[in-house]
Amino acid sequence: MKGQAEAPSQSEGDVNSTPLRAAWQREHLDDASRALLARDSAAFLHQSVSTPCLAPIVKAQGLYIEDMAGRRYMDFHGNNVHHLGHGHPEVIAAIKRQLDELSFAPRRFAPLRAVELAEVLGERFRALTGQQGRVLFTTGGSDAVEVALKLARAATGRFKTLSFWDAFHGAGFGASSVGGESLFRSGRLGPMLPGSEHVAPFGCYRCAYGHPVDAAGQPRLEQCRLACAAMVRYVLEREGDVAAVIAEPARAVPFIPPAGYWQAVREACHAHGTLLIFDEIPTGLGKTGRFFAAEHDATAPDIVVLGKALGGGVLPIAACIARDDLNVAAEFALGHYTHEKNPVTAAAALATLQVIERDGLVDHAARIGAHALGRLHDMKQRHRLIGDVRGRGLLLGIELVEDRGAKTAARAAAERVLYRALSAGLSFKTTMGNVLTLTPPLNLSLAQMDAALDILDEALAEEARN
Ligand SMILES: Cc1ncc(COP(=O)(O)O)c(C=O)c1O
Repeated sequence: MKGQAEAPSQSEGDVNSTPLRAAWQREHLDDASRALLARDSAAFLHQSVSTPCLAPIVKAQGLYIEDMAGRRYMDFHGNNVHHLGHGHPEVIAAIKRQLDELSFAPRRFAPLRAVELAEVLGERFRALTGQQGRVLFTTGGSDAVEVALKLARAATGRFKTLSFWDAFHGAGFGASSVGGESLFRSGRLGPMLPGSEHVAPFGCYRCAYGHPVDAAGQPRLEQCRLACAAMVRYVLEREGDVAAVIAEPARAVPFIPPAGYWQAVREACHAHGTLLIFDEIPTGLGKTGRFFAAEHDATAPDIVVLGKALGGGVLPIAACIARDDLNVAAEFALGHYTHEKNPVTAAAALATLQVIERDGLVDHAARIGAHALGRLHDMKQRHRLIGDVRGRGLLLGIELVEDRGAKTAARAAAERVLYRALSAGLSFKTTMGNVLTLTPPLNLSLAQMDAALDILDEALAEEARN
């Protein structure tokens, strides 16, 4: 399994133990930080991309996080929970009010806030799909994915799923099974769910079917004829009994779907009685410059899963939203989670949605993202290390390659750039080992975006000089 565990992954990051990380820690951490990291390392089970940690954190406010040694970082990662920045005052205030009013709802009792939140999300779903949505809440995104998978089974009487290699959908066994990263599917974990079929995802710069992009990095659709979508149809037809296709509408790497991809997959799903589930846990609530990333592709899913930023970056809450006519499991349980109608997490979510709407943050994200993408294209002209830039809204990626022709992944250089940027006060994640992935809050200013891109530009220039 050694080779499997070492495969580059979407979740893999930036803080796995490496000599570079150790050197960075030696230079930047003080004794108190080292002592807390040692306790953290001794107290937690170790696992990839989690423990051991990079540095202790003492503060997170707005765009910034602060470590124990007093260093501040612009947080361009934030696990995609911080659409409003960290600790948004209106989210915090709503939580405090709700704690005083009603702090928990045992099952069988309906709290107003959870009902209001379900109504708001049901309406959002209707705006996306034309059909009213019904909702179940869970504590985490992985659990909401489990609910979606169970609902798809209940609604279709089938158990198979089709999803993407390289995808991440959460840590539970169902979510790991539809996920496509070896990190979470290691043979040592034993067999995954039966019927979890996978297909190569879209990703034009690295097309799994070998079709080249043009000089501007755009797919040549007249040549490839969306071979990636055709393969989804082919598998659905051959299997004949797939309950659901589950995928992120824009892949978190990021990879943006080629025009027409989701419409073709949607048609294939219709043709074969398969439901389409969009996992919008990182992309939903405006990250890509539309409320749902699916809006870019004018594709109506049957089920949508939201999470992460839904709790305002403060509390954990996720949602599975489904078409009203998929309300087919009343006589058994899809997952009645202990906190499924928690009024406090619901209040955090309602406040988050209100701020996003009132402050026009979805359009703001689209504007700042377009500006950033323009600057990244300009950087690509100047830095040979950049093989491709892509993104939508504030989901942005810069793919580093050793050689633009061969597209050899520049993983070591990506790691060096990451630590240089960290030293200069910018935190982001690398994906697949060589894609610098920028996912800042929706409410960052143009000046903050420019400051972050200046750091990145300089880190890339320094890489070229050395
Ligand atoms: C696409 C996607 N789906 C599901 C999840 C799982 O969410 P959670 O960590 O809240 O269980 C994640 C988390 O990173 C994600 O990115």
